[in-house]
Amino acid sequence: MNVHDSDRIRRMIQDAGYAEVQRYEDADLVILNTCYVRENAVDRVRGHLGELNRLRREGRVKRVALTGCIGAAEESAALRQTYDIDLVLGTHNTYELAEFVGLPTMRETYTPELPGTEGGHSAFVTIMTGCNYQCSYCIVPTVRGRMICRPMDSVIGEVENLVAGGTGYITLLGQTVDAWRHEGKRFCDLLEAVSESAPRVWFTTSHPSNMEDRTLRAIGERDSIVKRLHLPVQSGSDRMLKVMHRGYKAERYRRKIEIFREAVPDGTLSTDIIVGHPGETEEDHEQTLRLVEDCAFDSAYIFKFSPRQGTEAASLPGTVPDSIVQRRFLEVLRQIEQNAFSRNQHKVGGEEEIYIRHGRTEDGKAIGETWSGHAVHVKTDAAPGEYVRATIESAGPHVLYAGEVDTSV
Ligand code: 5AD
Ligand code: SF4
Repeated sequence: MNVHDSDRIRRMIQDAGYAEVQRYEDADLVILNTCYVRENAVDRVRGHLGELNRLRREGRVKRVALTGCIGAAEESAALRQTYDIDLVLGTHNTYELAEFVGLPTMRETYTPELPGTEGGHSAFVTIMTGCNYQCSYCIVPTVRGRMICRPMDSVIGEVENLVAGGTGYITLLGQTVDAWRHEGKRFCDLLEAVSESAPRVWFTTSHPSNMEDRTLRAIGERDSIVKRLHLPVQSGSDRMLKVMHRGYKAERYRRKIEIFREAVPDGTLSTDIIVGHPGETEEDHEQTLRLVEDCAFDSAYIFKFSPRQGTEAASLPGTVPDSIVQRRFLEVLRQIEQNAFSRNQHKVGGEEEIYIRHGRTEDGKAIGETWSGHAVHVKTDAAPGEYVRATIESAGPHVLYAGEVDTSV
């Protein structure tokens, strides 16, 4: 979502006549679009702000703006003062940035419910913003607000425009995309409609409580939907899931995964897991390891709990010591990687149709994606957006490696 917001901001600045540069010292204007979800994101932003402040004092950078979720948090007032930032914006009022860069008439164009941008070979399409959940640890509802769903016609209109303009891959975006609903329609209806209009479709991120079985089946049945599901579980312990206010039990999550595996046998599954949430015991952790084993994830984002000021979990007792968090983190990681590695091994020897996401780099390999959602390194000159066919020759825990491209097709 941040990448997409940054993309829109970049286009806005370019519309105002600015050119993009690669280094801060070459920039007149710097806009830091930020994440607030964990403290390490904020630490990194502080590092950048310190450097920018120095460059500004030296007269190299003229103006600095801070946008995104940090901008929407209370902490932004202190940051503004410490680093002498010119403009601080949250997540909803990006149009003010237009005025900042000299586009006073842009007010209407960049509100979240309106279309983003014309895209390249692949494009993000926001279908909802905000979140109506109140997970104990999560700052998102505070900084992004409550859920707003974009009307179906507006989404389809944007998708059709993008496809007509040459975009071949649409990713539907939202904090809880599967919670999308509008005038009696639900997410699966929208996904099906988009899958009729676009040649390749994916969506992220989903919430297990909203994930309908028919959506899981649609992933398997519809050729244009990438067979990859990202479904954050956070913990395998019912006790922790309750403390976190996730709204489901581990068993229900397991059942969803069973349906996904049955409906999409060649699909990939990824998740988010938090280790060391306040009160997490060894038994809770064991249950997470058990769930990880049962669900056989193809990949996972594992996070150490990070207290966010203003969330419930930040003031809960039962802080887990760092050394224990670190061990649990590594245990979950090891299990995920072992499993991902052995699942990826099964892909070796098979021929795949690969969508090129990033063109060839210095080492001669492009980065692509199979229909099953696996990342592949492949030797080809094909441009982003093109498809190639190649045989998978080897596999690591995170990526598959393909051989020469089959030019006979
Ligand atoms: N600490 C650690 N991880 C967090 N996440 C969200 N908030 C926190 C936090 N306070 C993780 C969740 C979520 C992902 C985007 O970030 O796993 O799914
Ligand atoms: Fe945060 Fe996701 Fe929970 Fe919403 S559903 S509060 S975005 S973790």
